[in-house]
Amino acid sequence: MKKYLTAVLLGIGIISLPSLAGEDMKEFIKKKGCFACHDISRQKSGPPFKAVAKEYKGKPDAVKTLVTSITSGSMGKWQGLSKKYGFKVNMMYMPRQHVTKEEAEKIVKYILSLEK
Ligand code: HEC
Repeated sequence: MKKYLTAVLLGIGIISLPSLAGEDMKEFIKKKGCFACHDISRQKSGPPFKAVAKEYKGKPDAVKTLVTSITSGSMGKWQGLSKKYGFKVNMMYMPRQHVTKEEAEKIVKYILSLEK
């Protein structure tokens, strides 16, 4: 029911996802549970989002790659990459996250907009 209501509200534009920016986006990511393993600039179990931004910014497939990682999971990439950014991930993989492709896309665009 709640899902249905959200869909309806989204449909008629009362809640407009494209307008989520900055603090709103942070709040959204928090709600989705990402900060259990990530922080914007600090290392937790997963890589800091700023390191992700640095690694992928400007790469042609960045959005597609990261959306797939979020919606399908990601394994083994950051064991090596983290050394490059001076931290150590202590978790081998990220399980598939429960966000839609559209939500993942918004999150990824936000992550890629982060400055070092
Ligand atoms: C259970 C812990 C955990 C949760 C929850 C989690 N992540 Fe991750 N995340 C990781 C780990 C560990 C990695 C490193 C994976 C690897 O090495 O391939 C990672 C990697 C990533 C990457 C980089 C992927 C790549 O291809 O380089 C992104 C982007 C990301 N997470 C976003 C998110 C978002 C957005 C959420 C919330 C919807 C989230 N994560 C929730 C642990 C988590």
